[in-house]
Amino acid sequence: MSIDYKTYWRKSGLKKDWGNIFLNIVNQHKPKVFLEVGVFCGVTARNVCELLNIIHSGNFKYVGIDLFGDKANEDEKVPNYLKKQIFSNPIKNLFYNIILRENLNSYESVQKFLKKFSKNITLIKGNSNKILQHLEIENIDFAFLDGGHSFETVLNDLNLLFDKISLKKSAIILCDDYEDADYITGVKRAVDQFVKEKKLKFEIIEKRFAKITI
Ligand SMILES: C[S@@+](CC[C@H](N)C(=O)[O-])C[C@H]1O[C@@H](n2cnc3c(N)ncnc32)[C@H](O)[C@@H]1O
Repeated sequence: MSIDYKTYWRKSGLKKDWGNIFLNIVNQHKPKVFLEVGVFCGVTARNVCELLNIIHSGNFKYVGIDLFGDKANEDEKVPNYLKKQIFSNPIKNLFYNIILRENLNSYESVQKFLKKFSKNITLIKGNSNKILQHLEIENIDFAFLDGGHSFETVLNDLNLLFDKISLKKSAIILCDDYEDADYITGVKRAVDQFVKEKKLKFEIIEKRFAKITI
């Protein structure tokens, strides 16, 4: 199967070759129930849905959590691209900010963008550190952790995921920005502490992703 991560003229956290590397990891595990923490503009969500739709002939679930404009945790350094929707491409700027007046990191915009998979998806607006406490996630096969990047936020998310998933089944948690972005240090520290405490196996992929097996 040819795997080609598309950006759909939106913004994505997985630029250049990272999208394909990510999709190849997902394809190796072929999850039926996928969770993404940090949906942003929905591009990775859409790519995951397109892939799982082919693999499972439509029989899959995608759950995505994002602040979608809600306040981030106090210790988060909120990047500029989230504070204001800016594009380096002036045509995109004109199209999204002046003609459509559409915030691509909003619940409504992502819901519309993923309309093709409306039967498969659940989008949740809110802070993952709170949402994951109450969400029924025992049947998750694969979680992509790419929401808040501070040490506390990541460690909280990891512990909440572990408490629920490990009761019922094995799963993969893939954390973005473990190594690649050297200005982000919280993810690495949180993952290192988490795998040590829980005595879990993990693998670093392409000096960027940390793949934890639960
Ligand atoms: C790096 S972007 C995610 C990129 C996306 N996974 C992709 O591949 O395009 C991080 C996203 O996490 C969200 N976020 C930050 N802290 C969060 C939290 N505590 N709970 C839920 N979402 C959070 C932000 O709103 C932002 O959209």
